[in-house]
Amino acid sequence: MVICSAPGKVILFGEHAVVYGMPALAAAIEKRTYVTVQANISDKIKINSADSSGMVSIPIENLGAPSKDTYRYVKRAVYLTFQHQGKRTGLDIEIESRIPPASGLGSSAAVTVAAILAVSVALGNPLDKKTISSLAHRVEIDVQGAASPTDTSTSTFGGIQFIEPGKIVTYLDSPLNLVVGYSGMKRSTKVLVENVRKIKEKYPPIMDPIIQAIGKITEEGKMKIIENDLGAIGELMNLNQGLLDSLGVSNRILWNLVYSARDAGAFGAKLTGAGGGGCMIALVNDDPEKVIAAIEKEGCKAFYAPISKEGVKIEGDK
Ligand code: PMV
Repeated sequence: MVICSAPGKVILFGEHAVVYGMPALAAAIEKRTYVTVQANISDKIKINSADSSGMVSIPIENLGAPSKDTYRYVKRAVYLTFQHQGKRTGLDIEIESRIPPASGLGSSAAVTVAAILAVSVALGNPLDKKTISSLAHRVEIDVQGAASPTDTSTSTFGGIQFIEPGKIVTYLDSPLNLVVGYSGMKRSTKVLVENVRKIKEKYPPIMDPIIQAIGKITEEGKMKIIENDLGAIGELMNLNQGLLDSLGVSNRILWNLVYSARDAGAFGAKLTGAGGGGCMIALVNDDPEKVIAAIEKEGCKAFYAPISKEGVKIEGDK
């Protein structure tokens, strides 16, 4: 039996623009998903989770069929790992996620990444992080139709990632203090990405420069993180939030949380992930409590989110 875990993430800069080849900056956070895998002698993959999703049992033969249920990421992850390893076996899979689902915190990527490592260990051939990251990205593309590697590589490698097509640079040891505010509204990344595509196709001369400006903000953000210029990082987050709003992915609740955090002294605040609900982040000083309280006053949950330097890992192997 093997237990693997992988972290969720927040996007600091560049969501949506990254779908069109711009860079993104994302940080792994200390909220993880745990996947336990045990090989069995049946010809079935049984998947269960600690939440209320229930148990499913799929014959290995049917694993490749497109699926729309809650476990579609895990099924695809198992299928592609089997294909990659050229081996297959019956499996019992148990999932426990401490990342709020459908909230922009990368819960799908985390379960995918942890499942790929756990299944590869159960097959006797643990995969390296580069392979896990690329298989997990493939899973997201297959399930969602389109996906950048942002979530999957951040969950795999941990730390802060500057993601560009074909290149990944990791910045560890950043002293950024983040607060995450959760609007409580679930939303679909796929739908939001699709909406941005539509508005981009409708008004190319207006939308293309906005996408490019988000790319420039991300590049500038990377420099300011290296310089640890918190004031400038906050300012850039605020600029990014304004442009995300113009892509149509912010909403009233997110703006309320963003303004509350800024009024409570955050250096900057923006939505994180696909938007349309989900979460926002605020860059704070050493004392996050004032900003947490301001978000909670709006009736939403908030938590301090230290950056996780550790990506996917084996928690235990018996
Ligand atoms: O909602 P999330 O956390 O899965 O983030 C989506 C980020 C997008 O840039 C909107 C899409 C992507 O694939 O990068």
